[in-house]
Amino acid sequence: MSSEPTTGAAPAPRPGEPLPHDLLDAAERLSREQLHELQLERLRATLRHAYDNVELYRKKFDAAGVTPEDCRTLADLSRFPFTTKADLRDTYPFGMFAVPMSEVRRVHASSGTTGRPTVVGYTENDLSMWADVTARSIRAAGGRPGHKVHISYGYGLFTGGLGAHYGAERAGCTVIPASGGMTARQVQIIQDFRPEIIMVTPSYMLTLLDEFERQGVDPRTSSLKVGIFGAEPWTEEMRREIEERMDIHAVDIYGLSEVIGPGVAQECVETKDGLHIWEDHFYPEVVDPLTDAVLPAGEEGEIVFTSLTKEALPVIRYRTRDLTRLLPGTARPAFRRMQKVTGRCDDMIILRGVNVFPTQVEEIVLRTPAVAPHFQIRLTERGRMDHMTVRVEARPDAGPEQREAAARAIAQGVKDGVGVTVEVEVVEPETLERSLGKIRRVWDLRGGET
Ligand code: DLL
Repeated sequence: MSSEPTTGAAPAPRPGEPLPHDLLDAAERLSREQLHELQLERLRATLRHAYDNVELYRKKFDAAGVTPEDCRTLADLSRFPFTTKADLRDTYPFGMFAVPMSEVRRVHASSGTTGRPTVVGYTENDLSMWADVTARSIRAAGGRPGHKVHISYGYGLFTGGLGAHYGAERAGCTVIPASGGMTARQVQIIQDFRPEIIMVTPSYMLTLLDEFERQGVDPRTSSLKVGIFGAEPWTEEMRREIEERMDIHAVDIYGLSEVIGPGVAQECVETKDGLHIWEDHFYPEVVDPLTDAVLPAGEEGEIVFTSLTKEALPVIRYRTRDLTRLLPGTARPAFRRMQKVTGRCDDMIILRGVNVFPTQVEEIVLRTPAVAPHFQIRLTERGRMDHMTVRVEARPDAGPEQREAAARAIAQGVKDGVGVTVEVEVVEPETLERSLGKIRRVWDLRGGET
């Protein structure tokens, strides 16, 4: 990969090149023991803050027979009740805020697919902490003061745009606040402003890549060196696709509005081996989604977060619905890593008794020649049986035989790898809807739904 410095900015990192020690912040230099001490102190203060200031927490703790003082070790957290999205919905809009509204400087909301959105709030300190952790993420991705950061996450109630924005400013970068949409203009701006870094959903990156090619520009010649991709699950195959087509490093950023937004965890560019969780602010546990039991390190389950410093919206054991596993730290030894998220419990399709995740289909589609990395999953009923169709776009140069071979290869790949029979339809290029932000992969048309 080319690593030529661009005007005025530090050179982009090379793989395997650790962050210079002077760019690590104080928490990144803690030992695991020092971190534990800090976490316990912060955890106890958070439990007290939540109990004293949020009726829902008081009721839940009382019902479970626990008080904040019962938390004497980090493991004691498992005695406390979980918090779910439903709790936020039930107290819509501001019922879980733990500070007076006059101290809330900003709110964000996640749209959700059904019902009321969930609303989250931030004090001035919360916003500053968020900028700090996102700046730390950007540095871990290879961002340096003086780099230009093109942000194509949507600005607005979604946390992606503004979260990335203030993080990049805090990291000493120059922000290009492009937001989502107007794809042709985004490509023009990238060509003219020459950013080193792009922050965008991986699916919208593919839309941008297609637009580069449509405009006759080789994306590998762009100024971009690093892409910080998140807000939706994406696979190693997708990483390879983007890295090769753009000649950039593609790294993963994770977060969710209820916990803060982007910047909860970040993959380091020098190792690309999963995401370090910024544990000085967000305490992770992995639980069995069915039994709720805390799982030992390394086992896959649902990741649950407790905020350690948040003021406006402390979250205690928040059920993310995201499936992953906890691993020891590598590039940042104090912080544990989470493996790339394979999917959400909610995205899991149960097809004739077999669990299928869209990411499993993504892996297979992206390995298949003659098709583009654009696909949709449609669920319908055939008689009394559920039926799954994978619709995938042909590459423009693929002839009828290659298309047929691709359809067969994908169906066989899903059969062998996942264990279900699916129909594969290879459709004409440029016919599937393109992502402008978070992509919708699954269209469930069962039971007359559209
Ligand atoms: O998507 C925050 C964000 C913005 C993260 C920009 C990264 C970049 P929500 O809209 O609340 O917040 O959606 C959170 O998105 O529970 C996951 O299911 C999914 N998600 C976020 N990041 C990743 C990722 C933002 N890196 C939900 N990999 C989360 C897989 C992700 N899924």
